[in-house]
Amino acid sequence: MGLSLLTAISCLVSLGPLLLQNVHANSPLGRRAMTVHESRAEIPPHYAREGPPTPILLLTFALYDVSVPASPLYGKHLSQEEVKSYTSASSESVNAVTEWLAEFGVTDVQLETAVHDYLTFSVPISTANDLLDTEFHSFVHIPTGKRAIRTTRYSIPTALVSHISVIHPGTSFDLAKPLGITVSYGKRTSDVSASEWSGVNASCADTITPECLQDLYDIPSTPATQSTNRIAVPGMIGYYAQNADLQAFLERLRPDMPSNTTFGVEFIDGGISPQGPGEAGYEANLDIQYTVGVATGVNVTFISIGPNNTDGAAIGFLDIVEYLYNMTNPPQVMSMSYGYEEWWLTPAQANQICSVYMALGARGTSLIFGSGDGGVSGAERNDTCTEFLPAFPGGCPYITSVGGTFSFNPELSTNFSSGGFSGYFARPSYQEQAVAPFLENLGDTYAGLFNSSGRGFPDIAAQAHNVEIVTGGETVFINGTSCSGPIFASMVSLVNDRLIAAGKPVLGFLNPFLYNNTQIFTDITAGLPNAGCGTGGFNATVGWDPITGLGTPNFKKMLAAAGLPADD
Ligand SMILES: *[C@@H]1O[C@H](CO)[C@@H](O)[C@H](O)[C@H]1NC(C)=O
Ligand SMILES: *[C@@H]1O[C@H](CO)[C@@H](O)[C@H](O)[C@H]1NC(C)=O
Ligand SMILES: *[C@@H]1O[C@H](CO)[C@@H](O)[C@H](O)[C@H]1NC(C)=O
Ligand SMILES: *[C@@H]1O[C@H](CO)[C@@H](O)[C@H](O)[C@H]1NC(C)=O
Ligand SMILES: *[C@@H]1O[C@H](CO)[C@@H](O)[C@H](O)[C@H]1NC(C)=O
Ligand SMILES: *[C@@H]1O[C@H](CO)[C@@H](O)[C@H](O)[C@H]1NC(C)=O
Ligand SMILES: *[C@@H]1O[C@H](CO)[C@@H](O)[C@H](O)[C@H]1NC(C)=O
Ligand SMILES: *[C@@H]1O[C@H](CO)[C@@H](O)[C@H](O)[C@H]1NC(C)=O
Ligand SMILES: *[C@@H]1O[C@H](CO)[C@@H](O)[C@H](O)[C@H]1NC(C)=O
Ligand SMILES: *[C@@H]1O[C@H](CO)[C@@H](O)[C@H](O)[C@H]1NC(C)=O
Ligand SMILES: *[C@@H]1O[C@H](CO)[C@@H](O)[C@H](O)[C@H]1NC(C)=O
Repeated sequence: MGLSLLTAISCLVSLGPLLLQNVHANSPLGRRAMTVHESRAEIPPHYAREGPPTPILLLTFALYDVSVPASPLYGKHLSQEEVKSYTSASSESVNAVTEWLAEFGVTDVQLETAVHDYLTFSVPISTANDLLDTEFHSFVHIPTGKRAIRTTRYSIPTALVSHISVIHPGTSFDLAKPLGITVSYGKRTSDVSASEWSGVNASCADTITPECLQDLYDIPSTPATQSTNRIAVPGMIGYYAQNADLQAFLERLRPDMPSNTTFGVEFIDGGISPQGPGEAGYEANLDIQYTVGVATGVNVTFISIGPNNTDGAAIGFLDIVEYLYNMTNPPQVMSMSYGYEEWWLTPAQANQICSVYMALGARGTSLIFGSGDGGVSGAERNDTCTEFLPAFPGGCPYITSVGGTFSFNPELSTNFSSGGFSGYFARPSYQEQAVAPFLENLGDTYAGLFNSSGRGFPDIAAQAHNVEIVTGGETVFINGTSCSGPIFASMVSLVNDRLIAAGKPVLGFLNPFLYNNTQIFTDITAGLPNAGCGTGGFNATVGWDPITGLGTPNFKKMLAAAGLPADD
């Protein structure tokens, strides 16, 4: 309180005309009407409350914007300036918020502009508590010892609700992880009886390699031709892609490619890219090997996101897409295999990240994520949940979420493939026609466990079992939807290559195209259900389902749907 009074007094002296407002701001009677803006009932796993917070807090307010058109027009991509014209906060918002801050003596406020506009300022913790009618605490993330100042509930003036979206630090905790991966060593043993089928090598029932994917999904092995065509592969939380592992992988599994094929590396937030067997990261190696090794000849860039994030609790999720959005020519595809549980974010924060995906999609970048590996219990298996846990960003309507399959002839849904319905984002119109029949057939089953008007995910699926990679010089086999995302991203990139060659716009925001061309996909109608939360989960069914989406992609059919001639 002491510091807050001091600022108020200095404010009285320096800002005479604000005298009345200051008195009002700090008196219970004169206080503005407040509305709870964000709150959470539960602290996410692995966090504990501890000691008092630091005396000074750096606060960032993200300001609301007008929305980008719901479905950026297919084939009509917007420039950075055009997108910005939709996402800039109005000067009315900036003025309304800075006026309120001035009532608390906060005048040294920076306006920063990225996709959204942000106001940033430092205040004593007591002022922060007064401003937001809350009490900040210090929390510790037990596994890492990392400390965070957060609250479980804060308010803003009712009159400002339409101007402020997210406040950081607030009620969101920093959490991200690879989208679940299980790694096994040694030769796979088949758990399905598969025979040679339509030109697919029987060994693909045990082990998935780039060649298996070429045969299964009709992916060409001929190199891409367009030097402007790029895939961005972000890596984070200590996973680094290794050149030596890529080389060994290509020598072994793509002997037709130059084994010196490499990937570019860029850095944000103090990222690094150490090389050496001790630095191998399964997730980063998988993501790089199944883009470089499947999108033959496409320029792949590994973007290493370091720990010095500027996006608060989003820990790099916003920084990476703001970074790409800020480019004059952003990469046409981003493949990212990291995620959260949706409930770990507040709705406002999930919305903030999702709206930047929308902005980047409008610029012409296809954003592709694995759906998560916890079945109906989200990014990670959870048997104690009492409601289904959708994964993030699977629930965001502006990304393409890729679930997991295994085997072939027929290809089957796998049990860990995350899917369901967002608790935060409403179902977008592009998927209404596909999702409605599934819900109708499901009837009352699982009523109350999920919100049936939410955005359904995944959108599609691809192989996710026994995917062979090289990491730390060793051959290992990966299970996870982290495999599925890069595989599909590579296919999209190879379609883009032909679109660029034909002088046509790239696919960009994909989902309206996918749902309008369901013939691209092989419908997955059998397999394991995605059990979780003590239930049997959803089944793969005829048509869209929340475990394999529309099905698995076929490259030749993608070309036809994109209006391109078949490859020779
Ligand atoms: C991956 O899936 C296969 C079944 O396809 C299973 O045999 C294997 O044990 C799984 N690996 C791990 C590490 O869970
Ligand atoms: C099938 O795959 C195995 C293992 O990768 C390989 O040794 C064999 O040559 C392949 N057979 C054909 C016909 O491609
Ligand atoms: C890869 O090797 C080929 C042939 O040895 C060479 O021409 C090419 O420049 C090399 N590329 C890179 C990126 O080192
Ligand atoms: C990232 O932050 C750490 C700790 O504050 C600092 O030591 C390091 O220099 C920073 N790295 C970069 C590249 O800014
Ligand atoms: C890949 O793209 C980056 C960024 O546009 C560029 O700097 C680099 O030269 C490209 N690499 C190749 C091999 O074309
Ligand atoms: C965007 O690019 C401009 C200039 O190229 C740079 O000054 C700015 O920091 C960048 N912003 C972000 C969010 O990367
Ligand atoms: C599992 O679900 C329960 C109930 O929703 C939740 O409290 C717990 O934190 C979840 N565990 C993880 C690891 O997400
Ligand atoms: C999937 O099935 C395997 C083998 O039965 C089991 O070990 C694993 O926990 C299951 N995973 C999920 C997410 O249900
Ligand atoms: C269900 O989702 C819709 C759309 O996102 C939302 O308007 C509604 O409030 C949600 N219902 C519940 C009970 O959460
Ligand atoms: C998808 O098809 C519908 C009609 O079925 C059409 O109105 C819509 O514009 C199409 N969207 C795209 C992205 O092609
Ligand atoms: C999934 O299929 C099994 C076997 O046919 C059936 O018993 C179960 O009720 C189905 N589950 C759902 C949610 O439809």
